[in-house]
Amino acid sequence: MIICTNKNALFQAIDKCKAQGKTIGFVPTMGALHAGHISLINRSTAECDTTVASIFVNPVQFNNPNDLQTYPRTLETDLALLETNNCDIVFVPQVEDMYPEGMQNLEHYNFGTLETVMEGAFRPGHFNGVAIVVKRLFDLVQADKAFFGDKDFQQVAIVKQLVQQCTIPIQIIPCPIVRESDGLAMSSRNVRLTADERIQAAQISQTLFAAQKMAKTHSVQEVKNFVIQTINAVPALEVEYFDIVDDTYLQSVQSWDDAERIVGCVAVNVGAVRLIDNVVFLS
Ligand code: PAJ
Repeated sequence: MIICTNKNALFQAIDKCKAQGKTIGFVPTMGALHAGHISLINRSTAECDTTVASIFVNPVQFNNPNDLQTYPRTLETDLALLETNNCDIVFVPQVEDMYPEGMQNLEHYNFGTLETVMEGAFRPGHFNGVAIVVKRLFDLVQADKAFFGDKDFQQVAIVKQLVQQCTIPIQIIPCPIVRESDGLAMSSRNVRLTADERIQAAQISQTLFAAQKMAKTHSVQEVKNFVIQTINAVPALEVEYFDIVDDTYLQSVQSWDDAERIVGCVAVNVGAVRLIDNVVFLS
């Protein structure tokens, strides 16, 4: 595995692959890797000749300075995990590499209503920060395909929109959520939960799974009420939002007939840690 710590090293490695006519799969990450990230690496190695991962804790997408400061950083373990899973190239830039002109006066993207709902409403500036770094990474890596987890359902919609707006020649491949054995969606932030919070956090996905079953016989509003009340009844958990939306525009639906594919998305504060999850409701 080639480890590139600056843009020049990355250019060289990418040029070599391109010269050999190899297809490139890209998995952008912020490190603290777990089986969710690795599922994306595996998908890329299955579909592309060369797999490139990036590890960069992107400061401009953190709306909460404490979240940025406490974000887990486990570079050595991450690199070992990538190597074991046949990643070919890993890009580990410094902040100065990604933001040579500083982090003030950065470009501003407009994603319309996609960025005003759910995560967009509760994390102002977050998706603009994601778009800025993803666009810069896409420009550097020049991949054929990029792999993103459905765990960050709204992020996938934003990245697809970014690719369309900027006419970037890349295919975005959404990949299923990987969960712990008790159903908790894997997240780099899970390690920040206390043992007791970790046990209670399983109720997030368990409630979403129960809601999936309930959706067959209950209205959208009834399912919404159920999810919010059930999660909030768990002492360590506090729902920030739960919304049931169509999977294209991410707008709230009123009935199960409103869209072909409907997704329930939740953000929950578990002590000092904010977790997100989602499930698909089939109409
Ligand atoms: P990060 O949170 O490290 O996630 C990197 C990728 O892993 C994302 O596509 C995310 O959706 C996926 N992922 C995380 N947990 C997952 C799980 N349990 N199952 C499946 N996939 C999972 O998302 C980011 O980083 C950043 O916003 C980034 C795109 C790298 C831009 O900075």
